Amino acid sequence: MMSKRQQPAGWDRRSRVPASRGGPVPSRRRSDQRLTSIGVLSRVLGDAGIAFIAVMAALAVQAYLSVPDSAGTAQALASIMVPGGLVLVAVFLAAVVTANMLRGVYSRHRTYPLPTKLMRLVQSAAIAGAAAGVVLLLLPASFEVPRAAFIGAWVLTAIALPAARWWTWAYRINVQASELREDLELRQDKEQRGAAASEDRILVVGGAGYIGSALLPLLLESGQKVRLLDVFMYGKEPVAQWLEHPNLEVIEADYRKFDKLVEAMQGVDTVVHLGGLVGDPACAWNEELTVEVNLTFTRVIAEIAKASGVERFVFASTCSVYGASDEILDESSEFNPVSLYARSKVASEHVLMELQSPSFGVTILRFGTIYGISGRTRFDLVVNLLTAKAHADRGITVFGGDQWRPFVHVADAARAVALVLDAPGRLVSGRVYNVGSDEQNATLGDIGHLINSFVPEAEYVDSGRDGDRRNYRVSFRRIREELGFRPEWSLVEGVQQVLEALRSGRVGDYRDAKYSNVLYLANMGDSSVYPTTESEYAKGLITSTRETDLVRVGNGQVRSGANGDVAVALKGVAASRQASRRQPLSPERRGAVAERRGAVAERRSVVSERRSVVSERRGGGARR
Ligand SMILES: NC(=O)c1ccc[n+]([C@@H]2O[C@H](COP(=O)([O-])OP(=O)(O)OC[C@H]3O[C@@H](n4cnc5c(N)ncnc54)[C@H](O)[C@@H]3O)[C@@H](O)[C@H]2O)c1
Repeated sequence: MMSKRQQPAGWDRRSRVPASRGGPVPSRRRSDQRLTSIGVLSRVLGDAGIAFIAVMAALAVQAYLSVPDSAGTAQALASIMVPGGLVLVAVFLAAVVTANMLRGVYSRHRTYPLPTKLMRLVQSAAIAGAAAGVVLLLLPASFEVPRAAFIGAWVLTAIALPAARWWTWAYRINVQASELREDLELRQDKEQRGAAASEDRILVVGGAGYIGSALLPLLLESGQKVRLLDVFMYGKEPVAQWLEHPNLEVIEADYRKFDKLVEAMQGVDTVVHLGGLVGDPACAWNEELTVEVNLTFTRVIAEIAKASGVERFVFASTCSVYGASDEILDESSEFNPVSLYARSKVASEHVLMELQSPSFGVTILRFGTIYGISGRTRFDLVVNLLTAKAHADRGITVFGGDQWRPFVHVADAARAVALVLDAPGRLVSGRVYNVGSDEQNATLGDIGHLINSFVPEAEYVDSGRDGDRRNYRVSFRRIREELGFRPEWSLVEGVQQVLEALRSGRVGDYRDAKYSNVLYLANMGDSSVYPTTESEYAKGLITSTRETDLVRVGNGQVRSGANGDVAVALKGVAASRQASRRQPLSPERRGAVAERRGAVAERRSVVSERRSVVSERRGGGARR
């Protein structure tokens, strides 16, 4: 058997993509290029402006020293300006900008620490002055270049250029510090108000599923208090080993039960929503139900969370929202969902972003197609399924080997959630991130061949496209650059892991309904567990993904039966918050709050350091 670190022929281990193509390299988006060009242009203009002011100031000083009264100074300035002064301005400005360009001030500079930047600017100004001096010396004497003004301009520029950069840097740090102060004040205020009830738990909705069972141990092992709200559709086995953990509370309930939702939000500051009907086939099984579970109640969960004082809401979306496209897509690309599942995610994202506010930060994570082993491994996902079929049935049948998908290991998907929870709220709130890596965009054919290289006895067949129209390659630049996210698992390692789990019997028969969402619903679906309801609001949203229609439906046609119940539930939330506010704090509780404030302040200073590194890296990245 091949070891975990070995790789099949034809796959480049370092880049983790098929060697034949060298891997897809996402082209830089035009909008980003525009932003970068505007940034460079403004810096060039800024430096030219500084050099211009320096020359003019030096000329004015020379004129004043020659005739020190205002009328005389003006006349002297006019006489040295033409033509000598003008020539000086033109040559000096050109020299400064050219020297800066050659020294990489407008290209490589971003990556240097501040002292190096300042030093290089001084050097650049020195070079510019020397070069301008040579040019001016070579000019015919008739130009009468004012030499004293030239020396003055040179010195002033060498001081002013680095000073301007330092000032910009100091200003940015100051703004960030005041943002963090505001953040801290907001948090302290919230703590004071909710101290009696708050225990700072993270609520993971749908945390017993494929991703949830990988996330739960990550959170618990980091010392985090967690509350799990799940109906355990696929049983408790995926999280069985954590159920007795002292930091875990479990609420076994359907999240469409308002009282359970309100109960689940108590003392929670962060919600991670992973629940729902997942996957195209599972969602197509009962469309009404899908709309209700995935969309209507995503909104309900978020509204109750917001009303309960939850500060952060992380939502699991999918790269399927991009549907079918030949371009490389990023977070600002247009939606093109080709299934009800994907449309339910598009509409949910829209609804959640409408609830986003300074005190309720929403982060959307669009996961690629997931593979690998977790507490609840799914075998209705392409990498796992094809691997299991190759192993058990000696066949790898691919429907449309040329279709692209972005892939990500389940452990990396869970890490991405943890990373967002760890990041400063201001950085990730209102943000959408694709979760995966550029290197793991691959075609279904690539996946089939990769598996085939591990199971050569299996027959590879490409049966041409079936009804699945999805085809998309995705850029993961944003999550990489803003949060430093890089997957730890490659497709090669993921396939090996799944094969090892199958061969060792760690996972059973892949055909078992517990491994497949749609099989589970078809075989074990129980209408008493999942009754359907009508929801005009949700139906309106789901049938259109166009922005204008979404706004119309969102604003004016909220009429579902669920909305009345939400209002009742929200009243309950308000009453319980007021009651907790009236409770005087016990001395122990006051001590705990003070201790926590200290910890928060400490965390903020670490965060502040990290933020300046991140913002250096981010440069001018556009906010969505
Ligand atoms: N797995 C993937 O490839 C993938 C890709 C992109 C996005 N996502 C998204 O990530 C999230 C998690 O996906 P997953 O693969 O872990 O799904 P999953 O089906 O394995 O888990 C879903 C969980 O939600 C629970 N649940 C469902 N309805 C519920 C209800 N009404 N009340 C309470 N609990 C309920 C289920 O019991 C289950 O534990 C989903 O939102 C999914 O759309 C997954």
